[in-house]
Amino acid sequence: MSGHGILVTGGAGYIGSHTARQLADAGEKLFILDNLSTGFKQSVLNGELIIGNTGDKALVSRVLSENGIDTVIHFAAHTVVPESVSNPLKYYGNNTCCTRNLLECCQDVGVKNFIFSSTAAVYGTPDGGIASEESTKQPINPYGTSKLMSEMMLRDLSAATSLKHVILRYFNVAGCDPKGEIGQSTPNATLLTKVACEAAVGKRDAVYIFGTNYETPDGTGVRDYIHVEDLANAHVKALDYLRGDGESTTLNCGYGHGYSVREMLDAVGRANGTPLNIIEQARRAGDPASLVANTQRIHEVLDWTPQYDDLDTIAKTALAWERKQLTAPWSNE
Ligand code: UD1
Repeated sequence: MSGHGILVTGGAGYIGSHTARQLADAGEKLFILDNLSTGFKQSVLNGELIIGNTGDKALVSRVLSENGIDTVIHFAAHTVVPESVSNPLKYYGNNTCCTRNLLECCQDVGVKNFIFSSTAAVYGTPDGGIASEESTKQPINPYGTSKLMSEMMLRDLSAATSLKHVILRYFNVAGCDPKGEIGQSTPNATLLTKVACEAAVGKRDAVYIFGTNYETPDGTGVRDYIHVEDLANAHVKALDYLRGDGESTTLNCGYGHGYSVREMLDAVGRANGTPLNIIEQARRAGDPASLVANTQRIHEVLDWTPQYDDLDTIAKTALAWERKQLTAPWSNE
């Protein structure tokens, strides 16, 4: 059965749910496959939620063939870098092996388009702290390697079959739906903005700065923080691109400029109305000093114009969501 259905794996998660909402607003017919290990039923505002794993070939094949799926957008993955170091096979199992199974199902059914959530972690520590898509790929943690291996499988499958893909390499995703309906509720989060907002609302006593002696303007790590709504929109544009006969490609998703840890913590403090309780610590293993996207290609290839490229907007939307979670926390129970 051919059609224009879209399978969104991990669509109950943070980035997947924001993307699913934009796709639904654009009139797309969605099927959300999520095992709810870190996602939430409440984040699925549109489409049919199918609870299951991307590695379950019988389930995935059935969903693809019965619903006229022409496009798969694959978010489902483990994403905690330190955990990938302590438990690498969990990451290779879910992020790499399950992706292989998913791709095989796509091949069997003849899915046309595949949009893949990759990461700036594939670059490791690029020269000068700026990565273009052609920069050396040398991940420094299993999370990055698990994603790079999936990129390679996808590229090879596209070369061998009629499947076309867009690989989106995310830099540091932050912020939440400005309307406050969905947001990041991932338990045990390690991402800076999320941790800072948890500290702001009193879920944590303090936020720790991992390293103050980097060769950066204020000594703390610099990252390219991209608002989740802009990142979600890059997926919508990637879909238009593929359906409009665009060729397979890989694109960095960032704003092309960085902010330091201190700048982000100051922004969350401003949004909160009081500065955060900050404790300076030693560097965290494996952190590059600076990681910023060269974004020339995404602007050339996609008709993508960021709307939320502002640190205070990122901090405000993230904090508003954290406050909302205090009174009405999401739960799958
Ligand atoms: C990493 C990955 C990125 C991945 C993301 C999600 C790399 C190079 N990047 O981003 O691809 O998408 O994880 O898991 O592997 N920091 C603190 N205190 C904290 C938390 C973080 O100071 O409590 C600092 C870090 O040292 C870093 C910056 O904040 O300088 C951002 O860290 P984080 O939010 O954890 O993301 P990355 O490690 O950059």
